[in-house]
Amino acid sequence: KDVVPFYGKHQAGIVTPAQDFICFAAFDLMTRDKEQVRNLFKAWTEASATMTSGVLLGTDNENLNLPPSDTGEAAGLSPSRTTITFGVGPSFFDGRYGLAGLKPAGFRELPRFQGDALEEQWCGGDIGVQVCANDLQVAFHALRNLARIARGTAVLRWTQEGFQRTAQADPAGSTPRNLLGFKDGTGNPDTSKADEMNRLVWTQANDGPAWMGDGSYMAVRRIRMRVEVWDRSTLGDQENTFGRHRSSGAPLGKTKEFDKLDLAATNPEGKPLTPPTSHVALAHGDGSINILRRSYSYSSGLDKQTGQLDAGLLFISYQRDLFKQFVHIQEKLARNDKLNEYIVHKGSAVFACFPGVSQGGYIGDTLF
Ligand code: HEM
Repeated sequence: KDVVPFYGKHQAGIVTPAQDFICFAAFDLMTRDKEQVRNLFKAWTEASATMTSGVLLGTDNENLNLPPSDTGEAAGLSPSRTTITFGVGPSFFDGRYGLAGLKPAGFRELPRFQGDALEEQWCGGDIGVQVCANDLQVAFHALRNLARIARGTAVLRWTQEGFQRTAQADPAGSTPRNLLGFKDGTGNPDTSKADEMNRLVWTQANDGPAWMGDGSYMAVRRIRMRVEVWDRSTLGDQENTFGRHRSSGAPLGKTKEFDKLDLAATNPEGKPLTPPTSHVALAHGDGSINILRRSYSYSSGLDKQTGQLDAGLLFISYQRDLFKQFVHIQEKLARNDKLNEYIVHKGSAVFACFPGVSQGGYIGDTLF
């Protein structure tokens, strides 16, 4: 029950309920040889199928005269519902591999949004790999071995670990809270509805190049939270910033988390109950455009310059169309969101995530 199948129509790790931990990595390719990239994807496929089923990599794990094929730190541990999700960034199509013509129309790094304070060290990548698992050591092991297998072909460009509350701390599995203390994920589309996922998450056959059918576009933003400033604001301000109650997660004026968001509701003075510049009001809009958020909290020690915590949200969303969905929403948020006082976007990347791999196939085989 601790195994999420690696092979399938769609890649695992997208509509899979979010596991407790993430190890995210962006890689850059060092080769100009397409064959070498194909071989890397083949090797990664085999390793991913093995590691997600909780089996040691390779055959040389007992020979005293050889370095072991598996680094060993996950030996004897449960597969922990590990998923490994692969995508390629816009730079993958820059002509090095003769694949420029297969780049989906309009697929490029995100435009600069108002207030962005992006740092090169958290941006871009030829390949994006999202490893999620219910155990951080198991997730780290998977990422480390993928990096090891890539040696000579691809190097790590940036990585970020993230977490949310564990199943042990919340056996009921209620919506996790972000580091600002609010339930995060309530307004996500229902992943159990295939037609919703086809409308919002999975790239459809005629959306663009055939190789992306049943794939999805991933947007990653490393968003730092000014937690010290937030912690000094009143509960009333905090709730008006998000447009939801902190304790229950309910829309303002309602009592239950999943009560319907009614942006037209007003108080006795005729003022909207949900401030129009609150995060939820802007992100929701008229409700027709949504994304599947699969974010994790991060805490990466101190910002040496200010002595403050470098903590926030490793925001990840999946969508069928980056510009019609993510960019459409983020443009509104960047301009007016009350939340902007408390957050700053430090990193950004986008990846075209392949369709799922079938047994005998390999990651990216629809593209090569
Ligand atoms: C809703 C937090 C960034 C898109 C929410 C909610 C919270 C939240 C607490 C309400 C509960 C829920 O529906 O999940 C945050 C924080 C962010 C952040 C702390 C940054 C640190 C973003 C970004 C986007 C986004 C960058 C996309 C561009 C949405 C959407 C909703 C939402 C689509 C659902 C709105 C609806 O109810 O229809 N967010 N968010 N958020 N957020 Fe964010």
